[in-house]
Amino acid sequence: MAKVLILYSTTDGHTVEICNRLQTTIEQAGDSVEIVDLKGDPSLEGRDFDKIVIGASIRYGKHQPVVGDFIKANQATLDAHPNALFSVNVVARKPEKNTPETNPYFQKFLTQIDWEPQNLGVFAGKIDYPSLGPFDRTMIRFIMWMTRGPTDPTQTVEFTDWEKVDEFGQMVAAL
Ligand SMILES: Cc1cc2nc3c(=O)[nH]c(=O)nc-3n(C[C@H](O)[C@H](O)[C@H](O)COP(=O)(O)O)c2cc1C
Repeated sequence: MAKVLILYSTTDGHTVEICNRLQTTIEQAGDSVEIVDLKGDPSLEGRDFDKIVIGASIRYGKHQPVVGDFIKANQATLDAHPNALFSVNVVARKPEKNTPETNPYFQKFLTQIDWEPQNLGVFAGKIDYPSLGPFDRTMIRFIMWMTRGPTDPTQTVEFTDWEKVDEFGQMVAAL
């Protein structure tokens, strides 16, 4: 049984839901999982794990700075373990932008870091209009209108393909 460490960065919690689903799939396959928030600036020193996964969401075109900072500070440790990186964003709801190779945010992020993750994933996120403040709601409605997505401010729309998340979890378990 291997120990999987999943580190995440989220703004509204959907990336945590994806991590929780990964935990279920990975544990069903026989590994154990620990999930840790990158916001707490966690240290890898003294932590007991065999594989490492990083997951982060996009907001206004970027992952939170803590993601790149963590990768930079821990690159040698990341490279010393089977590893994977995934991104969560709503552009990935579009079939032509839902792979690591075709997702513009993922591609841009990979050029900004020196690390070359061994495995990559992209998942479409969720828009929960009622939970957003007025500024964010207006901005994301505008982005959605521009990209022909849903704009009804009373709706919560989840684009995540959970089967794809499960496949990613099975891939991690097989590393
Ligand atoms: C204010 C705001 C800005 C966002 N900006 C982008 C964006 O620029 N590109 C994109 O693809 N998704 C964008 N998203 C969608 C998020 O990536 C998506 O909601 C994701 O599920 C958020 O995950 P989290 O809850 O873990 O932060 C944005 C969402 C919000 C609420």
